Parts: sequence; C-alpha cells; structure tokens
Amino acid sequence: GMWLEISDWHSLGCHYKYGELYRHDNVILSGTHTHSGPGGYFQYTLFWITSKGLIKPSLNAIVNGIVKSIDIAHQNMKRGRLFINRGTVENSQINRSPFSYLENPASERSRYSSNTDKEMVMLKMVDENEQELGLISWFAVHPVSMNNTNRLVNSDNMGYASYLFEQEKNKGMLPGEGSFVAAFASSNLGDVSPNTKGPFCINTGDSCDNPESTCPVGGAKMCMAVGPGNDMFDSTRIIGQNIYSKAKELYEKASQEITGPLSSAHQWVNMSDVSVELNATHTVKTCKPALGYSFAAGTIDGVGAFNFTQGSIEGDPFWDEIRDQLLGEPSNETKACHKPKPILLSTGEMTWPHPWHPDIVDVQIVAIGSLAIIAVPGEFTTMSGRRLREAVEREFDSHGAPGMDVVIAGLCNVYTHYITTYEEYQVQRYEAASTIYGPHTLSAYIQLYRELARSIAMNTVQNLSRGPEPPFFNITNLTLVPLLIADLEPVNKTFGDVLQEVRQQYQPTEVAEVTFVGANPRNSAENATEHNFLTVERYTSTSDSWHVVQNDASWDTRFYWTKGLLGLSNVTIEWHIPHGTEPGIYRIRYFGHYKKRLSNSLAISIPFEGTSSAFEITTL
Ligand SMILES: *[C@@H]1O[C@H](CO)[C@@H](O)[C@H](O)[C@H]1NC(C)=O
Ligand SMILES: *[C@@H]1O[C@H](CO)[C@@H](O)[C@H](O)[C@H]1NC(C)=O
Ligand SMILES: *[C@@H]1O[C@H](CO)[C@@H](O)[C@H](O)[C@H]1NC(C)=O
Ligand SMILES: *[C@@H]1O[C@H](CO)[C@@H](O)[C@H](O)[C@H]1NC(C)=O
Ligand SMILES: *[C@@H]1O[C@H](CO)[C@@H](O)[C@H](O)[C@H]1NC(C)=O
Ligand SMILES: *[C@@H]1O[C@H](CO)[C@@H](O)[C@H](O)[C@H]1NC(C)=O
Ligand SMILES: *[C@@H]1O[C@H](CO)[C@@H](O)[C@H](O)[C@H]1NC(C)=O
Ligand SMILES: *[C@@H]1O[C@H](CO)[C@@H](O)[C@H](O)[C@H]1NC(C)=O
Ligand SMILES: *[C@@H]1O[C@H](CO)[C@@H](O)[C@H](O)[C@H]1NC(C)=O
Ligand SMILES: *[C@@H]1O[C@H](CO)[C@@H](O)[C@H](O)[C@H]1NC(C)=O
Repeated sequence: GMWLEISDWHSLGCHYKYGELYRHDNVILSGTHTHSGPGGYFQYTLFWITSKGLIKPSLNAIVNGIVKSIDIAHQNMKRGRLFINRGTVENSQINRSPFSYLENPASERSRYSSNTDKEMVMLKMVDENEQELGLISWFAVHPVSMNNTNRLVNSDNMGYASYLFEQEKNKGMLPGEGSFVAAFASSNLGDVSPNTKGPFCINTGDSCDNPESTCPVGGAKMCMAVGPGNDMFDSTRIIGQNIYSKAKELYEKASQEITGPLSSAHQWVNMSDVSVELNATHTVKTCKPALGYSFAAGTIDGVGAFNFTQGSIEGDPFWDEIRDQLLGEPSNETKACHKPKPILLSTGEMTWPHPWHPDIVDVQIVAIGSLAIIAVPGEFTTMSGRRLREAVEREFDSHGAPGMDVVIAGLCNVYTHYITTYEEYQVQRYEAASTIYGPHTLSAYIQLYRELARSIAMNTVQNLSRGPEPPFFNITNLTLVPLLIADLEPVNKTFGDVLQEVRQQYQPTEVAEVTFVGANPRNSAENATEHNFLTVERYTSTSDSWHVVQNDASWDTRFYWTKGLLGLSNVTIEWHIPHGTEPGIYRIRYFGHYKKRLSNSLAISIPFEGTSSAFEITTL
C-alpha cells in the first residue's frame, strides 16, 4: 500500500514531507501475513481480484497510518542505545510442508535440530538516560492462528504479542496510546504454521500428514491444522502469549550493545530477468511470474477449492482448458522455465487491465553496527532463509566485516509470495507452486543480497545501480464494490438505539453483549481517518464521570455487524470480561455513521452513537 503511495507521490510530482531524509534505501516497509485484515490496496491485479478491486478506504487507512507512524517516530527521535539478544521460542510452530523440507540434502539438514527456525532476535531500545523506548523482534511463524472463516479485523498471534507488551509498558493506556512501541516482525516463515496440533481431516479425524495433504474422504479441502487452543481465539492467545513471554525475557536480559556505523543498500531488480552463475560452467535464469497448480490447493492453514492438491507436478486438462479459454495459455518459454511446476496462472504474461504480478522488486539490507537486517520481498521457507543468512554472513566475513549478526525481515517493501529452495521446488507443494520466479528464485536472491552485503562491507553503496523503478498503475477507478446505499432505521427506532440490552450484572470471564440499530461501518471508514467503533467505560462516582477502559483494538472486545434488507442492519458488541476486572459500574458505547440520501446525486454521512444501560461487575 505504502509502496503504491510512494509511486503516487512521484507521479503527482509532490515533494517528500521530509525532503530527502526518508528514502527507498533507508526505510523498510515491513508487512505481516494475515487472514484477518481488509484487502484491496495493492496495485497488481491478482491481489485485488478477491476484494473486487481497489478498496480506497483500506488503502487510505494503511497509507495514513504508515505516514503518521513515521511522523510520530520523527517527532520523538532522540539519542539512544541499542541492545541485541536472541533465544528460542518453544511450542509455537510446526513445519507445514515437512515433505518439502526433507528434499533438502541430508548433510544440510543434519546441521539443524529442527525443521523450523525457533530463534527470536530482539533489538531493545533505550534513550541516553536508560528510559525505555521500545523494541523490534523477528520470529518465523505465520500469523494465521485465526482461520479463514474469521471476519473480524484482527492482528493475530504476533499482534497479540505486541499488544501484551505495549499494554504492560504503557500502563493504564488504551491500545495504540503511550510511547512504548513493541514491534513483532516476521522472518523466514514460509513453511511455518502456528497451528501446532498439525494436519488432520476435519470430517473423519484421520491424519492427513502426507505429501499431498489429502484426506481419504473429501480430498485436500478437508485437511486442516488447528491448535494449540480450543478454538481460533484461544489458539491466537496461546501462541501470542508464548511469543510475548520469550520477548519479555529477552528484553529484560538484553545486554550486548550494538554500536558502529549505520548504512543501507537498496536496489530495484527485474526478477523476471536475473541470470545466476551457479558455477564456472552453469548459468541459469529466473522466469516471468507464474503460479503452479498447488497454489490453488492452499495449505493446512487455509485450504483452497475444487480438487487441487499440494504436490502436483502435472496439470489437469480440465483446468488447463478453462485457464486457456478465460485467461490465456502460458507460453512454451514460461512453461519450460518453471519446470517441474505445472502452470495454473501465467501471471507474468497476464497484463489486463494491469500486470497481475510484479517484475520489479526491492532488495535491501540495512546494517546497524554488527547487525544486518535483510529485507526480503516475500516469504522465505526455513531452509531458504538459512541459506540466505549464511551466504550474506560469509559475504560480510570475506569483505572485511566479520561476525555480523544477520536477521531476515520477511514480507518487506513489495509482495512476491514464497521462496523455496531448488530441492523443495521439485516437489511442488503450496510454497513451491507459489515461488513465482521459478526454480532458481532463491539462487537469484542469494546473488543479489551478496552484492548488497559486499557493497556495505566495502563501503561502496553509492556505486550500486538503482535498478529499474517500479511502474505505477492508477487503479483508482478499478473497483466493483458497489457504492453505499442509504442506511435505514426500523420503524420507531433510530440509529444507535438498543435492540437487545446488556444484563444488569456480570462476573469476570462472562460476556457482556448489547445489540444496537446499526449502519454500514464503511461509512465510518470513508468519513473518519481514525475511527474507534466502540468503548467500554467505567463509572467513577467521585467525579461522577465515565472513563474509557477498552476500545475496538482491545483483545477483549468484538464488533459484529449484521446486514439486513434494504439498508437495515444491526451491530452487536461483545465484551469478554477478563479475569481481574475491577468490580464497579460499566457501560458499552457504539460509534457509527449512517448514510442519508439528500437527492439522486447527493448523499451525506451523519455520525451517531449508542449507549447500553449501565451494568455491574461483581467479583467472582
Ligand atoms: C475456524 O475456527 C473455528 C473455531 O474457532 C471453527 O469453528 C471452524 O471450523 C474453523 N474453520 C476452519 C476452516 O478451519
Ligand atoms: C523484466 O524482464 C522481462 C524479461 O526480460 C521483460 O519481458 C519485462 O518487460 C521486464 N519488465 C520490466 C517492467 O521492465
Ligand atoms: C555446476 O552446476 C551444475 C548444476 O547444478 C552441475 O550439474 C555441475 O556439475 C556443476 N559443475 C561444477 C564444475 O561444479
Ligand atoms: C478435477 O475436477 C474436474 C471437474 O470435475 C475433472 O474433470 C478432473 O478430472 C478432476 N481432476 C482430478 C485430478 O481429479
Ligand atoms: C508450444 O509447443 C508445442 C509443442 O512443442 C507446439 O505445438 C505449440 O505450437 C507451441 N506453442 C507456441 C505458442 O509456440
Ligand atoms: C565507486 O565509484 C567511485 C566514483 O564514481 C569510483 O571512484 C570508485 O572506483 C568506485 N568503486 C568501485 C569499487 O567500483
Ligand atoms: C487516477 O485516475 C483518476 C480517475 O480515474 C484521476 O482522477 C486521478 O487524477 C488519477 N491519478 C493519478 C495519480 O494519475
Ligand atoms: C478508468 O479511468 C481511465 C482513465 O483514467 C479510463 O480510460 C477507463 O475507461 C476507466 N475505467 C473504468 C472501469 O471506469
Ligand atoms: C410506532 O409508534 C407509533 C406511535 O407511538 C405507534 O402507533 C406504532 O404502533 C408504532 N409502530 C411500531 C411498528 O412499533
Ligand atoms: C439483527 O439483524 C439480523 C438480520 O436482519 C436479525 O436476524 C436479528 O434478529 C437482529 N438482531 C436484533 C437483536 O434485532
């Protein structure tokens, strides 16, 4: 999203707010993998098909949020010190493609005790007076404890770890308030699932821990992984709590100071067109982007549709025909380049209305003293990440910068799906089918990042070519999402009226619930840059006033919008009253906007609010 916006600034000829201070080479935009966020903000066609095009309020919210966070960081900038620490997080991941991992040479695998990387790397930040400022940590796990039936906007396990850390350090503040920032970033999580009970058939209970992840009855659609909790909320909480606990321990014990110069190297690269020298006699090439059959199978963290299975090394005449008729046949060159991947979507050859996948991607390394952060534009599998880290370490070693700490920051700057090793690629599970630039994608990245590392080590960053600038597509009018119709209120009721009241009394661990006459939440997203949909408030008798104790970003609150006919809708707010909630008098409030049509061409959004009755929380 931000990347689109930066291109937007270019094409509009706007000046950067901070002049030349924050640039492509010295800012890393680090994303997260989620099944619980709004979509429709990325310019390449494949990514907005499922969201029916551009969702402008999503894009605006993301871009404004990023820009605001840079503003805040800039305003709060001060001299300080950095400390690094590392440690292992147990019981929080499994490898979701163990059969691919086993394709890697035994001699290589024998150097590692696990088929996932369990290490968390932590950077602690304090100011000159030892006042705490925040942290960044990196850990390899998909934040997909929430499964793909979930419709709540949610920050998943890594977001919950961040929430817990910030709530602890910013005592008495609401989420998003307070100065302490705890960032939980991704790493080489490509084949790493948080659903630790592993794959099983949801219809029969059989194991589906097989190379195709299929079930005897119902095929691949029935093979899913869950756990460790009773439901997805519980699982999110447990994994998030594990990550948080380790982070807290590492933070408290961090004592190795990072000192030394700061440098950054960035390049744009046409990933469809990289030649890789494997050795003196063999040179190979990357391919134009394409997705294989197993992409459509999905994973045990979110299954696909129809009869696609993971591990497909042959196409299917039925689907090939549909693809050829609807979207066009892949060229022979692309087919050959991607072998043994059977191509389902030849995205690199699909350009209507704009290219379906990026050619031009960012490669970037930022070094702070002895720490090198490798910002990669996708999801490296465990072994891919290890190979990249080692290659970069060796490159630093042999060019005068020995002993660098190298960390992979995943999903940075632009999204290009997955990156497997050459060996993993051969068996074409989901991650391999989604290695879009072909079998030599990893080798190409290793070559590119070695060059960046070398230029940092030898202090020749200024000699790096910038590479080809990514294109900007104006997708402003590409949306099939219908315009909002006017909201309607039931007879004798108005927006924000209570339809179903709270009870008079609750105890901690119970759920307080209230339903209001509602309106489409998109009105609020379109009309307020930062909108909070709900509060939980506590009554203070000494001042005869209400104080907000929770909002819509709190872990314990949930906001459900239920659409009725003709613009009628209602909103149910739940507060899952946590252990240790102070006894007292509370209420729940709802904030929305309803759309009112003034004429055929003119509609306005009008803010409203609703308030539940007061209720009492007693002790258990
Ligand atoms: C998602 O999790 C919920 C429980 O939290 C469960 O009812 C549902 O079956 C799960 N769905 C999938 C597709 O895993
Ligand atoms: C990237 O390289 C491919 C293969 O040479 C070429 O067809 C394509 O036009 C290039 N893309 C861009 C954006 O230059
Ligand atoms: C070069 O790499 C190719 C492909 O991996 C391999 O077949 C060949 O044996 C290698 N040659 C040398 C001299 O290592
Ligand atoms: C998948 O389904 C299609 C349509 O029903 C069928 O033609 C095809 O043979 C099936 N493929 C496999 C591998 O079962
Ligand atoms: C691809 O190759 C096949 C068989 O070699 C040939 O029949 C076909 O015409 C080729 N397609 C294109 C678009 O060149
Ligand atoms: C880097 O560029 C400078 C000035 O353009 C040049 O003098 C120097 O030789 C270059 N260094 C390398 C390693 O290419
Ligand atoms: C994008 O297109 C819209 C109309 O479709 C136009 O109003 C807008 O100015 C364009 N933006 C840029 C940056 O070209
Ligand atoms: C979008 O705007 C462009 C001009 O900016 C125009 O050529 C195109 O037809 C528009 N597309 C739609 C779907 O409105
Ligand atoms: C709405 O209020 C009016 C006046 O109080 C009453 O006569 C009518 O029955 C109410 N309608 C409904 C559907 O409750
Ligand atoms: C909320 O709206 C849904 C859909 O119209 C309806 O089924 C449900 O009864 C409503 N709930 C209340 C409390 O009115």
